[in-house]
Amino acid sequence: MRNLTQPDLALLAFAREAQEKSYSPYSSFRVGAAVFADGEIYEGTNVENAAYPATLCAEAGALSAAIAAGARDITAIAIVGDSEAPTVPCGTCRQRLAEFNPEMRVIMGGASDEVMVMTLDELLPEAFVRGFLDQDESK
Ligand code: THU
Repeated sequence: MRNLTQPDLALLAFAREAQEKSYSPYSSFRVGAAVFADGEIYEGTNVENAAYPATLCAEAGALSAAIAAGARDITAIAIVGDSEAPTVPCGTCRQRLAEFNPEMRVIMGGASDEVMVMTLDELLPEAFVRGFLDQDESK
């Protein structure tokens, strides 16, 4: 657990804003995410589907928005869900995020005031990253 900073709270507010836009008619579990990358903020929300496995997580949407905008230096992500306790990213999203920065700050919030701050490395130790496949950093 890390100390909560002012920038953490600011990013969390963007995630809460994104959470309002959630499309979650099946689970009614709304999730919002906000990624801080190259000085900009990119939001995402969960987008559910009648074919349940086609559902997109909020973190995946925010990450995709950042990458599509050309940002690469992702230093933090805030995640807010409808759980009472802070919502943690699912395993697949931890892996998605680790691709870009295994040390990024992860700020997690829920329906209460409780906020949890960890690094991605703490949430996904020994992540499988590109170095295992290819040492060429120029790609
Ligand atoms: N969900 C996310 O958006 N992110 C996570 O990390 C956990 C789960 C969404 C997917 C689904 O729409 C709802 O939460 C319930 O699983």
